[in-house]
Amino acid sequence: MSEPIVLGIESTCDETAAAIVQGRTLRSNVVASSMNEHARYGGVIPEIASRAHAEAFVPVVEQALADAGLELADVDAIAVSAGPGLAGCLAVGVSGAKALAYAANKPLYGINHVIGHIAVTQLQFGPFPDDTMALIVSGGHTSLLHVRDVARHVDVVGTTLDDAAGECFDKVARLLGFPYPGGPHIDRHARQGDPHAIRVPQGLTQGKAAVRHPYDFSFSGVKTAVARWIEEQQASGRDVPVDDVCASLADSVATVLARKAIRGCLANGSDTLIVGGGFSANSQLRGKLLEVGADHGVQVRIPKIGLCTDNGAMVAMLGVNLVEAGVKPSSPDFPIDSAMP
Ligand code: KG4
Ligand code: ZN
Repeated sequence: MSEPIVLGIESTCDETAAAIVQGRTLRSNVVASSMNEHARYGGVIPEIASRAHAEAFVPVVEQALADAGLELADVDAIAVSAGPGLAGCLAVGVSGAKALAYAANKPLYGINHVIGHIAVTQLQFGPFPDDTMALIVSGGHTSLLHVRDVARHVDVVGTTLDDAAGECFDKVARLLGFPYPGGPHIDRHARQGDPHAIRVPQGLTQGKAAVRHPYDFSFSGVKTAVARWIEEQQASGRDVPVDDVCASLADSVATVLARKAIRGCLANGSDTLIVGGGFSANSQLRGKLLEVGADHGVQVRIPKIGLCTDNGAMVAMLGVNLVEAGVKPSSPDFPIDSAMP
């Protein structure tokens, strides 16, 4: 098989997505999102998301095949996110993918969604140098990973001990009255504020915690500190300087992520850092990573936003890597794993 053609299917959270990748070429990429249906609840409601996946699955897959000018019979394999994610959402995508694989007699790969965020960068930047590091940041995950072989061997170097970075932004955004997802609103206001106006703690960067957790993150304390500061302002009748709160929060989170990720690169002898996940759209993080990376000779690869957020291309690209590496397909009854490490 010269250039494997893989259909990738994604349904871990609120995006139903399908894409076709052939070798390193993205032939189609279709995303349907239920995000607007969750906005008024302030967060993703699993039942609503699962139902939306069930409705979108067939049209999204059909569109991905049509956009690529292919029939299901033309693909060499199907890949689907098997975890981590919301159980009900995963169940829809995985059951659908199993049905397609069975009906068309195609090999099926249940993949790890977080590794998909790493794999997708090949579509924009080409192959991984040896010892690439990856920082994957979204509303659900914050992980620093060492990519030895994307198909077989990725080590976790650090992770968040509590909230993900996007989750922290979304929670503070709620306090400030922004609709869900609030991360982009914080980003926008932060650009007009003073990043040093408020002291926001940088989790796991001081004392024993920093020694014990050199590459781990903690953002729940950041959220609590900002919440307390806002309450104090309100209790004493002062206005909350929204731009300054956003700028100080964004500066703290972006600084910790960038410093620890680049330090992780240096410690692992890596001169390339891949960045992915919806939070990598954040302008403060992008700025800090490029700045700290340049200071230490680390090339930072941040793909365009459409490849950072959840999509089918990430699943299809990792599927291609698995086919090329000769990895055995998953068994037909492989389970979903909502807490996949
Ligand atoms: O990867 P993603 O689309 O979905 C998952 O969580 O898996 O990431 C969404 C997260 C949300 O928390 C959202 O607020 C955050 O990424 N986000 C941002 C920005 N764009 C998206 N956070 C800060 N600044 C942004 N520009
Ligand atoms: Zn994701």
